[in-house]
Amino acid sequence: EVYKEAAQNVTAWYRQYGRDLPWRRTGNPYHIWISEIMLQQTQVDTVKPYYERFIETLPTVEDLAGADEQRVFKLWEGLGYYRRASHLKEAASMIVNEYHGRFPETYEELLKLKGVGMYTASAIASIAFGIPKGVVDGNTLRIVARLFNREDNIALQKTKNAFGEIMDAMIRYAEPSDFNQGMMDLGAMICTPSKPSCDECPVASLCQSRECQTVLRLPVNNKV
Ligand code: ADE
Repeated sequence: EVYKEAAQNVTAWYRQYGRDLPWRRTGNPYHIWISEIMLQQTQVDTVKPYYERFIETLPTVEDLAGADEQRVFKLWEGLGYYRRASHLKEAASMIVNEYHGRFPETYEELLKLKGVGMYTASAIASIAFGIPKGVVDGNTLRIVARLFNREDNIALQKTKNAFGEIMDAMIRYAEPSDFNQGMMDLGAMICTPSKPSCDECPVASLCQSRECQTVLRLPVNNKV
């Protein structure tokens, strides 16, 4: 089956060529959460030093919950979208007070945290807890559209849902963390919007848009 081969190829490629990033060297859910919140609106290279400093200064969720708000804003200064910092502190207090410091371990529970939407809940669930939930964003939608030569408009919620289900079906054949981060890296490094590096792509032999020469026309994105 194609889903299985594609999922396994993406995962194997990630293990060999995936980016070595500081938050990929930990299994600590609190650290992974901090990284995913920073990565919501900020580029990987910008996030790196902020992530390192934040984790060094506030290494546990208890530290964050107990920290002075101004100290947290100071650590965030330069990252922008400062609401993320207040949401982080609010969620940390909820984890400490309502969950007795036990980090939420399911997709549904993660969604209840302030500042955590579907993308971030899927990322944390898969990376920190090995839960098979695909991450849906511009990069992964582009990969699915090209791999299966789908002309669905990715601006529509129903397309995002349908492509999300395809990724959920694929991720079951792989290790969830490595599959999702492999999809992120594939989208950032290989299956780029323009000048994709199909020669280096681990799923080129399976790619239906490559066969149909529609790679550069996909995904269809007609803003509604
Ligand atoms: N963007 C969002 N989450 C990411 C992650 N875990 N690695 C790289 N880029 C990301």
